[in-house]
Amino acid sequence: MHIWQDDVSTSHDDIELSLAADHGRPEPILQVAGLSAGYGGPPIVSELDLTVGKGEVVTIVGPNGAGKSTLVKTIIGELRASSGVVMLAGTPVTSVPTELLVRRGIGYVPQRNDVFGMLTVRENLEIGGYLLSKREVGRRIEETLSYFPRLEELAARRVLVSKMSGGERKMLALARALMMRPEVLILDEPTAGLAVQVAKTVLHEQVPALAERGVSILLIEQRAADALEISNWGYVLVSGMVRISASASEILGRKDIGEIFLGKFSTDTR
Ligand SMILES: Nc1ncnc2c1ncn2[C@@H]1O[C@H](COP(=O)(O)OP(=O)(O)O)[C@@H](O)[C@H]1O
Ligand SMILES: [Mg+2]
Repeated sequence: MHIWQDDVSTSHDDIELSLAADHGRPEPILQVAGLSAGYGGPPIVSELDLTVGKGEVVTIVGPNGAGKSTLVKTIIGELRASSGVVMLAGTPVTSVPTELLVRRGIGYVPQRNDVFGMLTVRENLEIGGYLLSKREVGRRIEETLSYFPRLEELAARRVLVSKMSGGERKMLALARALMMRPEVLILDEPTAGLAVQVAKTVLHEQVPALAERGVSILLIEQRAADALEISNWGYVLVSGMVRISASASEILGRKDIGEIFLGKFSTDTR
């Protein structure tokens, strides 16, 4: 576990600093090094390093306003990095426009659902495949729906997305990102606004199912305990900086970390 403590106050002295390397992690699919970005004022994320290994589920937890969405927007090329690099499978892709990154294997599900309510499931999936040939879109829709039996039902009934539940719409947002068969999928708070049981299904069933199909996942979550339970590695982001980088089980085993860095941690977000 690596804990950065430079400006953490004395009440945290009991967290000992240990510098175990990231050994044993798979080869990186997504790497961020020294990344800084913001909105024109002071940087919102500073000098940030993180890695998603092939086949891993990696979670970033951190309080509201820590810069998680800003980081993600910078990785996927919606925001320009002021310094640092983003590498996809060893190739620099820093500030490459989102559309090109999507072609190159990064999928992104934004924090705000942007599925289209006045369209059907199938029509939304077609939009997810707009970079593909018409024939390929048809094939991918069948493939994608096979991961989500519930969506398959809704698609068969031609239900309008506006009539679907929050959980079903989130499932559709995941499915839409899968249309491009991403190698790495970035999920920004996929359970935000969902009822507890639905959130649990997303984190304990849907995300692991994607990982089992070989998609590497970078997950941003407020529900820290649930997210870490299904993750290989975790980062704690506070004020735009990585404070902790450790295996998910190590972070889960240290309730003090949750209390100190997140204010609250496990059971109260369930
Ligand atoms: N479009 C924007 N313009 C200016 N500041 C922003 C914008 N979006 C977010 N911020 C600021 O950046 C900081 C981090 O926000 P954000 O990345 O959304 O955090 P998180 O996702 O961790 O809650 C906050 O202080 C927020 O007010
Ligand atoms: Mg956010």
